[in-house]
Amino acid sequence: MKEIKIESTLCLFENMDELSESVSALMQKAITARKKAYAPYSNFNVGAAILLANGEVITGNNQENAAYPSGLCAERTAIYYAGAQYPNVKIISMALTAASNNNKTSQPIPPCGACRQAIAEYEIKQESPIEIYFMGEVGAVAKSGSLANLLPLGFDKAVL
Ligand code: THU
Repeated sequence: MKEIKIESTLCLFENMDELSESVSALMQKAITARKKAYAPYSNFNVGAAILLANGEVITGNNQENAAYPSGLCAERTAIYYAGAQYPNVKIISMALTAASNNNKTSQPIPPCGACRQAIAEYEIKQESPIEIYFMGEVGAVAKSGSLANLLPLGFDKAVL
């Protein structure tokens, strides 16, 4: 038996002011998208903004449904639209923000497991890393240099 250690590295920015101008602008678009989320059941609003290599920015937010599992997270709403509209354009980065109507989120809120799996598909397809910036409503912003860094031991086409 041998033990295997898997490590992930994140960069932490104290707040949005520490971000570069371009990343801050992307996060601002995620915030605008978050404010248009349709989340009447969870009251938890999530926004995503995706920067493509052609300069386009695709935004999305969570869309809930009375039949709860029929809803979709912000990240997948946005990335599936990007995949549908620009199938051959690489994704450079994503900015994510999550805010609750019940309390002020001030910790970086990472994408859920299902969204990580969905983003991983595109990162593997394009053969280049997708940078992921994520935050709550206020406060610190975390950056992962790739999706793979957020999803160790990922399941992908290599095992099919
Ligand atoms: N949600 C997202 O949009 N992204 C995530 O990564 C986590 C959760 C949404 C789904 C649901 O509408 C609400 O947040 C509460 O789970």
